[in-house]
Amino acid sequence: MSVRVGIVGQGYVATTLALGLARIKRGEIGLNGIPLQNFLRSYRVEDVEIVCSIDVDAAKVGRSLSDVVSMYYPEFPRYQSLEGVTVSKGIHLGSTSNIPIKASGLEEEMDLENAVYSVVSTWERCGVDVLINLITTEYTEPPESFQDLRKLVKSGGTKLPATYAYLYAATIYAETVKPVAFINAIPAVAARSNVFVDAFAERGSIILGDDGASGATPLTSDIIEHLAERNRVPRGVVQFNIGGNTDFLALLDESRNKAKEKTKSSVVADVLGFEVPTYIKPTGFSEYLGDKKFVSMHIEYVGFNGAVDEIVVNARINDSPALAGLLVDLVRLAKIAIDRGFSGTIYEVNSFYMKSPGPAGSKSISRIVAYQLLIDWLLRVGELVKIPRYSIHSYLPELRKAYGLD
Ligand SMILES: NC(=O)c1ccc[n+]([C@@H]2O[C@H](COP(=O)([O-])OP(=O)(O)OC[C@H]3O[C@@H](n4cnc5c(N)ncnc54)[C@H](O)[C@@H]3O)[C@@H](O)[C@H]2O)c1
Repeated sequence: MSVRVGIVGQGYVATTLALGLARIKRGEIGLNGIPLQNFLRSYRVEDVEIVCSIDVDAAKVGRSLSDVVSMYYPEFPRYQSLEGVTVSKGIHLGSTSNIPIKASGLEEEMDLENAVYSVVSTWERCGVDVLINLITTEYTEPPESFQDLRKLVKSGGTKLPATYAYLYAATIYAETVKPVAFINAIPAVAARSNVFVDAFAERGSIILGDDGASGATPLTSDIIEHLAERNRVPRGVVQFNIGGNTDFLALLDESRNKAKEKTKSSVVADVLGFEVPTYIKPTGFSEYLGDKKFVSMHIEYVGFNGAVDEIVVNARINDSPALAGLLVDLVRLAKIAIDRGFSGTIYEVNSFYMKSPGPAGSKSISRIVAYQLLIDWLLRVGELVKIPRYSIHSYLPELRKAYGLD
């Protein structure tokens, strides 16, 4: 059985995911960067199949996934498995404003409600199990109720963020076709809103989010945890990124950057349990860096006898592969959750993979701790074929016994 994935936003991350999966299936590369590798009982990495894709960029709509891969990765040959998927036009709602691309949406050809139904029938044709939202970062304020969202769609609301139009479409798909999982990998508020979590739960469906935790923010949270466990008290945290891909270009826009800053900054206070001055956000765009962003981090802390120490980290990190590798796990976990009758959202999954884990009010914990929660959840649902050696379960005999692992 495969996991049938629908992409929303065929940009750098989604295209890296498509190329990486094609190369894995051809045996050209291993499973590096995929945390759960082939440790899951129900689905192997090779079972993940991208079956449809939606975008609004005129340069991509109507082209095959293989064509889009050539735009980002011209050095690679064409892969047969990517020829059969054509990018369909989605709902725009101004989501690419200020970005130098020619974009248009279905709502320019029909009213918004019909545009939503058109997207639903695209997904139905492909038989998607899991959707991944990878559109340009948007600033969003969630609706007060699902009825408000429905009214906004019916009135053709131009103020509606595109992500919410897709979430609405996903609920219609869940009602009329089959339960679905929606992975919100962008900073829009989705899995942190009870309105959406309840709407998905009522339809036997899953929503995971928000904002994939792929780069420097999880590393920061782990360093903070390291200090906190030793009672070394941080006085302030500064972390910035400069990148050269379209995502960084989009983040020059103040309101988009605010959305990102919100999902990144919560992590320090959440891990420590108190506030310290922080400055954590993307700070600039420089085309020559390309997808390989420059990250810098500075943490000052007070230790024994008032000693003041500092940690400085500088890194260059390939942005898109970092998230794409996590998505290979997320789509399988989302499908497993549906298969096993879960609905709504799953904190144990979000806390490891997302910067701002849903549901509303959840803490963003360090990834070292979140990893253990994730493995524990997988053991409870009987999904692990192998205990990763970094898991606490491989150290503690009583835990091993409790799960019948010996
Ligand atoms: N490591 C990472 O790269 C990382 C980490 C966490 C989150 N994210 C988030 O993932 C998203 C994608 O990142 P990316 O680097 O691929 O960006 P990108 O700019 O390369 O791709 C975004 C794609 O979405 C399309 N799009 C925009 N509005 C759309 C709409 N209304 N409907 C359908 N398609 C639409 C664009 O045309 C483009 O193809 C961003 O929101 C980013 O914040 C990325």
